[in-house]
Amino acid sequence: MLALFAGISLLSRVAAQSVTTYPPYAVSGDSTVQFTLESNGFDAPKVNFYNSTSAQWWYFDVVSNDLSQSAVISFLDNAPGATGSPSGVLPFNFIEVNLQLSSGQQISLQVSGQWVILTSEGDGLSGVFNGSGYSWTGASDLSSYTVTLDDTANELSGTIQLNSQISYTGVGYHDTNWGDQAFSDDIGSWYWGHVRFGPYSMVWFDLLDNTGVEHQLVYLAENGAVVANSCGSMPVRPTGLNSAYPPIPGLLPTGFTIVYDMGSAGIMEVNITNSQSIVSYPLLYTRWVGTVVGGIRGQAPTYSGIGLYEEMGG
Ligand SMILES: *[C@@H]1O[C@H](CO)[C@@H](O)[C@H](O)[C@H]1NC(C)=O
Ligand SMILES: *[C@@H]1O[C@H](CO)[C@@H](O)[C@H](O)[C@H]1NC(C)=O
Ligand SMILES: *[C@@H]1O[C@H](CO)[C@@H](O)[C@H](O)[C@H]1NC(C)=O
Repeated sequence: MLALFAGISLLSRVAAQSVTTYPPYAVSGDSTVQFTLESNGFDAPKVNFYNSTSAQWWYFDVVSNDLSQSAVISFLDNAPGATGSPSGVLPFNFIEVNLQLSSGQQISLQVSGQWVILTSEGDGLSGVFNGSGYSWTGASDLSSYTVTLDDTANELSGTIQLNSQISYTGVGYHDTNWGDQAFSDDIGSWYWGHVRFGPYSMVWFDLLDNTGVEHQLVYLAENGAVVANSCGSMPVRPTGLNSAYPPIPGLLPTGFTIVYDMGSAGIMEVNITNSQSIVSYPLLYTRWVGTVVGGIRGQAPTYSGIGLYEEMGG
């Protein structure tokens, strides 16, 4: 029985793999960028090559239930293009690492990669940033991801495991973002983050573009099944002291509130209280871990949980 399963999975694995390599410099010409998802290859590379303005990155975070430990690792292909930073400031292929340790220490590392080797299989993707010691592997059905750190330069090693089908001692999150121009060309400020409370997982992105127009994106799942996924009404607003909106650089709130009108499914209300900041670039960007209480307005019960989230432009 076991052998049979192993044999089948091996066959499908061999059949479906596709490998792409990307150099540690921009290639001239027009990139082909896939803006519409296809039926498979959910996490696969969406840009055939990176010129100086096209970019894609893969983001992973985990936070422990007691909020005392977290790790955020971002793998950027064309970091200068993605961030719109002047050339020479960031390595082209770049890994940003932020660790919050139970000792209270916070570690921030910026690591450069050489060639990037991406292997896509089914909906999953594995990546190696050659020469950096950082890589990840993703299951073809997106059920698990493992990020491996073998960073001899910074004397850091270990693995971070994200599973979407079993319970574990914290929450993890993974996504990928891509485009053909720097996000700073379009976006003024934003609130982004994810929380887990009771049976719910929620991911939000509430941004003001450079003309001051607000755009809201939200994803809500209950027991792993999507409840609502819309670009509709879902304001994310700062709360407590310094809760100016639009955000004013230097004024940091003590929490956030999200009111998501899901139509016939009710109004999901989520209150978030910052526990501590885990990354801070004063006047520009803050990332926090915090506690959350949420539920459907007017209905019992409410649930508590934890989250990891950020404010850009404040
Ligand atoms: C990179 O490719 C994109 C998509 O084809 C194109 O819009 C953009 O102008 C290109 N950038 C450069 C610097 O050639
Ligand atoms: C990645 O590095 C290994 C050795 O560390 C090397 O054999 C391989 O050719 C490299 N791949 C690319 C695409 O640079
Ligand atoms: C969120 O906070 C508001 C304002 O304090 C409160 O009225 C509401 O009941 C809270 N919602 C939840 C789910 O705790």
